[in-house]
Amino acid sequence: MTNDALILAALREAGSVSGADLAQRLNISRAAIWSRIEDLRKLGYEIEASPHHGYQLVRSPDLLLADDLESLLPSNRIVGREIIVYKETASTNDVAERLARDGAEEGLVVFAESQSKGRGRLGRKWVSPAGKGLWFSVLLRPKLRPQEATQLTVAAATALTRAIESTTGLRPEIKWPNDLLIGGLKIAGVLTELSAELDTIKHLILGIGLDVNQTVDEFPHELHPLATSLQIAVGKKISRPLLATQILRELNFDYQRIHAGRFDELADEWQRRCTTLGKNIVIETGDRKLQGRAESLDQDGALLLRTQHGRLERIIGGDVSLLK
Ligand code: BTN
Repeated sequence: MTNDALILAALREAGSVSGADLAQRLNISRAAIWSRIEDLRKLGYEIEASPHHGYQLVRSPDLLLADDLESLLPSNRIVGREIIVYKETASTNDVAERLARDGAEEGLVVFAESQSKGRGRLGRKWVSPAGKGLWFSVLLRPKLRPQEATQLTVAAATALTRAIESTTGLRPEIKWPNDLLIGGLKIAGVLTELSAELDTIKHLILGIGLDVNQTVDEFPHELHPLATSLQIAVGKKISRPLLATQILRELNFDYQRIHAGRFDELADEWQRRCTTLGKNIVIETGDRKLQGRAESLDQDGALLLRTQHGRLERIIGGDVSLLK
């Protein structure tokens, strides 16, 4: 951790800390502490200084800073083991893919304040304006077969719903395979990209996009009937760093469950939150269009669809619409 992260962690933990105490903990001079505090203030941290109480963190800016995010996570984590934040990049999935090929360890998370070429599933564009959402990618190297990769998408969607629920009180629905909706409008999506050999996953990238602090006017017009943000749904701004670290904590928890062979537990939770199950739907997968009833999820996370002809089809991806 850098000195800035150590100072922020100490202020969060103790409420207020004297300059002398911080200097001793970090093994640097009080003047050096003062200069770090000044730089943190320039970044937007409101830090009060009083002769009696020392330094006190009054407010944090809504910025994603790698050190600060790392300081908010438990030390024994896999997910978020290393965090990189870009001010702008084309797509965090591309950055994570490059780093994966260069041998980066699993658990690496790449955030961007904005993406110029954010992409969604099925070749769609993902709008990623600066400072308004969480646009990030998680690199994992699970010991699973390629056909089990859907388990990670299920983990991402489930972890996201729990983090959103505990941070905002909202209860998002999951629309198969990986959309999160509030009041029928999309707030988040997951783009899972895989590098695999015949029977093993080499690495997998979970790309997560979550609309956090946009107002209605900040969405492109064509998204108005389709998308919303947490701020619109809850009526106030949400702290992105706190939400981001909560998501990483929950994802770490679900990743450990998969590791421990407990995907069935996760699948049960997913099924309880998924509003697609039990509904009559149309799924478009590639050039196939299937119609039927979404029955359940199998042990690999695939959707079991009872078609209108009574056959049970196993679907691993596609675009779902509800039949009226
Ligand atoms: C979808 O619902 O279609 C998935 C959207 C995934 C968007 C995220 S934002 C971070 C990561 N980088 C990308 O280019 N896409 C994913």
